[in-house]
Amino acid sequence: MAAASGEAVKNKQVLFKDYVTGFPKESDMAVVESTIQLKVPEGSSEILLKNLYLSCDPYMRSRMSKNFTAHPSFVPGSPLTGFGVARVLESGNPNFKKGEFVWGLTGWEEYSLISSNQMLFKIEHADVPLSYYTGLLGMPGMTAYAGFHEVASPKKGEKVFISAASGAVGQLVGQFAKLAGCYVVGSAGSKEKVDLLKNKFGFDDAFNYKEEQDLNVALKRCFPDGIDIYYENVGGKLLDAVLLNMKMNGRIPVCGMISQYNLDQHEGVTNLVHIIYKQIRIQGFTVNEYFQLYPKFLGFVLPHIKEGKIVYVEDKAEGLENGPAALVGLYNGCNVGKQVVVVAHE
Ligand SMILES: NC(=O)c1ccc[n+]([C@@H]2O[C@H](COP(=O)([O-])OP(=O)(O)OC[C@H]3O[C@@H](n4cnc5c(N)ncnc54)[C@H](OP(=O)(O)O)[C@@H]3O)[C@@H](O)[C@H]2O)c1
Repeated sequence: MAAASGEAVKNKQVLFKDYVTGFPKESDMAVVESTIQLKVPEGSSEILLKNLYLSCDPYMRSRMSKNFTAHPSFVPGSPLTGFGVARVLESGNPNFKKGEFVWGLTGWEEYSLISSNQMLFKIEHADVPLSYYTGLLGMPGMTAYAGFHEVASPKKGEKVFISAASGAVGQLVGQFAKLAGCYVVGSAGSKEKVDLLKNKFGFDDAFNYKEEQDLNVALKRCFPDGIDIYYENVGGKLLDAVLLNMKMNGRIPVCGMISQYNLDQHEGVTNLVHIIYKQIRIQGFTVNEYFQLYPKFLGFVLPHIKEGKIVYVEDKAEGLENGPAALVGLYNGCNVGKQVVVVAHE
């Protein structure tokens, strides 16, 4: 039975315990039960959300570090925060109404009272699975679109390589690249993921980077004439091998470097000199600078979804109590597709 307005109800939460060094562990988080009154305080512009789906994203590791410069850290003893999909239960903000579905920044808990200046988008198209707004139609989708179309400026016929290619971002970059008429190869960490790349997402070729003796040889096999665009998700040894295989005037949109996030000492890259001779443009970006393109992105992607030209694979962990394992699993490649935590079904 649905809880009534003003009622005090149990609120399961995932708390961040303390700052992390090295690989995060499930025990860095605690699942607890508190209570919450289902009411927006009188005169407040806050929004009360019932969380439905939470997004596990690699950047959340940086928020577990003390004094990370690019993001504020999680607060020990408080719930994790991140992207999610929710239903509005009550709202002191006239832009959001009771019953509406939204996606944006929320808490890792069943119910969240969030301030109205949090990043929150109203879901206008609910005829697709709502969980897609944690991935394909949310932050990762926007990241794939911005990094590929805005940063890399692809041209028809170009050769594109994508790392962490079966994940939330990578599977989309590959499909966007195919729609743009490119030749597309991806790398991933298991046979199952490589099969998905070739048989579900339509990549032209793919390889399991964990089984290759020599990454340079693997890339030469897939790209005898070199790579025009490398969509960088992992960094480290793979980036080093890619630099040897880039073509003249190649572009490397640097989206992420997940292989480095849990290392105290980052790995060095030795082939940087190729940037000069091949006049390679390497450009880091964060999705935050591109959210103004969200309506344009939806206009591009929704018709493709409806026509079945873009598909999306999700890996759903059922229940908030399974959230910590799902999040930690990202850094061990456990997720097959976009990792989502199902808090409640709509
Ligand atoms: N710039 C931005 O604004 C922005 C926004 C969103 C995401 N990102 C970045 O985009 C990248 C992909 O994110 P996502 O959400 O799509 O995650 P994801 O690919 O769905 O999940 C992470 C995957 O990374 C791979 N991985 C983990 N450790 C690795 C290692 N040591 N070496 C190589 N691969 C490793 C694993 O796949 P395998 O089994 O294939 O190894 C794992 O499944 C991340 O680097 C993330 O930080 C950036």
